[in-house]
Amino acid sequence: MNGESALPERGRDAREILADLEDLAADDPDYRAGRTFSLTYHLDDTHEAFLADVGRRFASANGLNPTAFKSLKRMESQIVGAAAGLLHGPDTVCGMLTAGGTESCMLAVKTHRDRARRLKKLRKPEMIIPMTGHVAWLKGAEYFGVRVHRLPETRDHRPDLKRLKKLINRRTIMVLGSAPEYPRGMIDPIPEMAEIAAGADVPFHVDACVGGFILPFMEMNGHSLPAWDFRTPGVTSISADLHKYGYAGKGASLILYRDLELFKDQIFVETEWPGGMFASAGLLGTRPGAAYATAWATLQSIGIDGYRRMARDTIATADALRAGVAGIAGLAIIGSPTGPLFAYRSTDPKIDILAVGDLMEQRGWLVDRVQKPDGLHAMVTLNHGRIVDRYLADLADAVRQLRENPQASPTGSAATYGLMAHVPARSMVRRRLRDIFAGLYAPGGGEIDLGAAAPARGLSGVAERVVSALARRRARKERRR
Ligand SMILES: Cc1ncc(COP(=O)(O)O)c(C=O)c1O
Repeated sequence: MNGESALPERGRDAREILADLEDLAADDPDYRAGRTFSLTYHLDDTHEAFLADVGRRFASANGLNPTAFKSLKRMESQIVGAAAGLLHGPDTVCGMLTAGGTESCMLAVKTHRDRARRLKKLRKPEMIIPMTGHVAWLKGAEYFGVRVHRLPETRDHRPDLKRLKKLINRRTIMVLGSAPEYPRGMIDPIPEMAEIAAGADVPFHVDACVGGFILPFMEMNGHSLPAWDFRTPGVTSISADLHKYGYAGKGASLILYRDLELFKDQIFVETEWPGGMFASAGLLGTRPGAAYATAWATLQSIGIDGYRRMARDTIATADALRAGVAGIAGLAIIGSPTGPLFAYRSTDPKIDILAVGDLMEQRGWLVDRVQKPDGLHAMVTLNHGRIVDRYLADLADAVRQLRENPQASPTGSAATYGLMAHVPARSMVRRRLRDIFAGLYAPGGGEIDLGAAAPARGLSGVAERVVSALARRRARKERRR
């Protein structure tokens, strides 16, 4: 590599640069081999090459001004129309392409807050989200100054509807349901929740960032699914990611509203700026043309028959993995997932599920941890069809190893999460985590040695380091007393 800086004295040869990029990517997760269970939705190399070709054609195009690059606006309208049809929206459904699920969720928070401000003169907005609602909603609430009420779960891991009725009040700007939620892959009881929200004249949003481009095709394939889309009367808005099960290039999601009146509250307008009058519908200013084009081209390339085939194969893989996991003594699926996501826990006190995760990682699998209850997560994609037997064999082996020797994983997340109980205040963890995370952005690339601190697991690895450092400090203090 040419020094540490990305700006060399003289421009370099393209082949050399491409070779450097290969080197830079050498330690990235091996998603092509189906070893990662989050972050990537990789179809195949042919599709990636196609996306690169499409992206190249629109690399300089900008969606900032929807009247300038008419090609992008046309693509966006067609994508929105296609999604509205898939989600059984009436003709009034409208929306826009966003940069990702988080932008879609955050825009929904902003829109519903501003609607409540306009209609109810509301000063102190609140929203209600199930415990399993994605963290993007918490981020949106923090950014837009909305107080969050988390709906507790019933014993079967569903949002408590009785509590929803109690929590909803005149300050509530929106209620959230997910289809499916990320931690366990379950579809929330959307009709029941939407009815309660509608009864209080409160908008109800369905987060289908994960499900938007797989549930409709499962239904076409004959799966009987609980109602979750615009067919449910109280559903006012839906987010659906193209860059997840739509297999578009990264940077493509949709926020859809039942009608244009709702959408209007999403739009930012400024008339006095010396740079000119300005209006913008999304969070971003400049919007990459390639994101529109690759999303549009992906829908064209795969088509309904392709998505149906992909949904069939993905769900067959997820079902095989779920059945295999449930067949391993001491493990159980958490709740009752519908679709491609699931999580599993230990039912045997001798088997620490987080230690199982550590052992799986030693065997080359990148698996996310979940908590409340502790578990391991799987986001199953088409690419996992090839690894079912190997994954299950490694999992059974890890469980057997721990049963024979419960101390087999003294370090890693198992040890760290165990130590979490000894950290007195979560606010301390938050503060320390923020400092350490900021370090990643410090001049020069950050004080953290990512390689050592967070092998493959990124932020959760960093969090584990923070927790264990705090727990060790606490233990030292206690010893001194
Ligand atoms: C249910 C749900 N909503 C929102 C998001 C956020 O999506 P993104 O990572 O594209 O911002 C995710 C991501 O996994 C998700 O699972």
